Amino acid sequence: MPDITQIESELGINTEAAIVEPIQHPILLEKDIHFHIKRDDLLHPIISGNKWRKLKYTLLHALTKGHEHLISMGGAYSNHLHALAYVGHKLNLKTTGLIRGEEPAVDNQTLADLKSWGMNLEFVSRSAFRELRNYRASDAAPAKQYNGYWIPEGGSSQEALRGVSEILKEINMDFDTLTLACGTGTTLAGIAKSLPSTKRVLGFSALKGGGFLEKDIKKLLRTKGMPNWSINFDYHFGGFAKTNEELLSFIETFQTETNIPLESLYNGKMLFGILDLIKNDRFKKGHTIIAIHTGGLQGNR
Ligand SMILES: Cc1ncc(COP(=O)(O)O)c(C=O)c1O
Repeated sequence: MPDITQIESELGINTEAAIVEPIQHPILLEKDIHFHIKRDDLLHPIISGNKWRKLKYTLLHALTKGHEHLISMGGAYSNHLHALAYVGHKLNLKTTGLIRGEEPAVDNQTLADLKSWGMNLEFVSRSAFRELRNYRASDAAPAKQYNGYWIPEGGSSQEALRGVSEILKEINMDFDTLTLACGTGTTLAGIAKSLPSTKRVLGFSALKGGGFLEKDIKKLLRTKGMPNWSINFDYHFGGFAKTNEELLSFIETFQTETNIPLESLYNGKMLFGILDLIKNDRFKKGHTIIAIHTGGLQGNR
């Protein structure tokens, strides 16, 4: 059985760096809210935030089964493929990325990194990409087609939930609510699965019309109810990767005031959302909130 602690050390994963940092902000003082950020963005310079959390036990599962080829899918700026390609490069594993849409004439920096780390890239049509979303099992059709281990979009799997739940073990303080950004909802599901029933996790959808999200999370959790989690759909800013002046200016000010870097796809929107809810008195005085910074800063380039 491969030693996952040894692998983490080979990759340079540093859980000690991913501290829980208290945040000062005038609105927090005014509303008497205790606010912290779990700096999972500091877990690793490249495999940051929820990327490693989701990959950790998926990788262990693949290696335990003797696989040396990992195949997955994502957009041309995918943080997930970026992390996967780096892991493959460092551990000498073959990787294949199925990328949505046509190959651009000039590679963006994410694609350039994927290539430089030896990931084999295949560009697939939008309709074929949608089809790929139906494959969930590690031995599903793409695994057979490309002869390797299949990892669904965003690293979403039961193994991913186990890795994500380890974030909770690193939070050594009491709190009422955790918040995080949602794409596939896997990170939220991993937290919700292990969260004590007295606490809640609130997700912020990065996608417009993410109606599928609650259904997908329930499927991952194998439950029908939503006992300790909910999703806010009000802060997607027009849809995935859409921004506006208000969001960009919020991010800039937040970064200057806290020294915490943000990107505008996930964490910028989530932090805008939670501070706006606080401003609008949606939390009781004395409430303690911890926002999980899920990294993804490579997308800023
Ligand atoms: C930086 C970042 N934050 C949050 C998410 C959303 O995570 P999930 O797909 O598990 O909901 C992603 C996508 O994986 C991401 O890249």
